[in-house]
Amino acid sequence: MAEAPTLETPRLTLAPFSDEHLTERYVGWLQDPDVVRYSEQRHRTHTLESCRQFAASFADGPSHLWAIIENKQGLGHIGNINSDVDAANRTADVAVMIGEKQAWGQGLGFEAWNAVLDYLLGPGAMRKVTAGTMAENKGMLAIFEKSGMTEEGRRKKQFQLLDREVDAILVARFAET
Ligand SMILES: CC(C)(COP(=O)(O)OP(=O)(O)OC[C@H]1O[C@@H](n2cnc3c(N)ncnc32)[C@H](O)[C@@H]1OP(=O)(O)O)[C@@H](O)C(=O)NCCC(=O)NCCS
Repeated sequence: MAEAPTLETPRLTLAPFSDEHLTERYVGWLQDPDVVRYSEQRHRTHTLESCRQFAASFADGPSHLWAIIENKQGLGHIGNINSDVDAANRTADVAVMIGEKQAWGQGLGFEAWNAVLDYLLGPGAMRKVTAGTMAENKGMLAIFEKSGMTEEGRRKKQFQLLDREVDAILVARFAET
C-alpha cells in the first residue's frame, strides 16, 4: 500500500488497514443486508479470504485503505474507508462502510469521510475527490453535502435495487486553489 498516514479525529483513529483488521467481524458486515443495501457487495458472498484479497489489492500503487477505529465508546473497529487514487490525474474516488450498526447516526461516518477528504485534498496532493452512491442512500447523500461535495453527474437508472431502477449520483470536491 502507498504510505497512508494514520488520521486522528475527535472520536476516531483511521489506521492503515492491516492483518489485525481482517476478522470475522468485518466479514459479518458484508453479510448483513442492512449494511450492504446500497452497495454492489450485496450481490457477492464474502469470506475472510475475499476480504484479504480486497485488502491486498491496496498493497501496490497509490490507493489507500483505512480501518475506522472508534475510541470514545470502546467500539473498536467499526468500518473501513478507502480511496482509489489516479496519481496521473491527481484524483481520488472515496467509499466508506460503517459496518457496526450501533455506530450509525452519531456523525461518525461524516467524521471519517471529512478527515479523508481533508487529507487527500491537502497533504495527499489530490486536485479532486469524487464519490458516488445510489439516489436512495440518504445517509451517504447527507455526508456528501455536509463535506462540501457537489453533484457533477447523474447516471439514470444505473442500478436495480429490488424492484426499482435507481439513479447513480456522482459528486466531487476540488482542492481549494
Ligand atoms: C451511509 C453511512 C456511511 C452513514 O454513516 P453514519 O455514521 O451513520 O452517518 P452520520 O451519522 O455521519 O450522518 C451524517 C448525516 O447523514 C444523515 N443520515 C445518516 N444516515 C441516514 C439515513 N439512513 N437516512 C437519512 N439521513 C441519514 C445524518 O442525519 C447526518 O445528517 P445531519 O448531520 O444533517 O443530521 C453508514 O450508514 C454506512 O456505512 N452504511 C452502509 C454502507 C454504505 O451504504 N456505504 C455507502 C455506499 S456508496
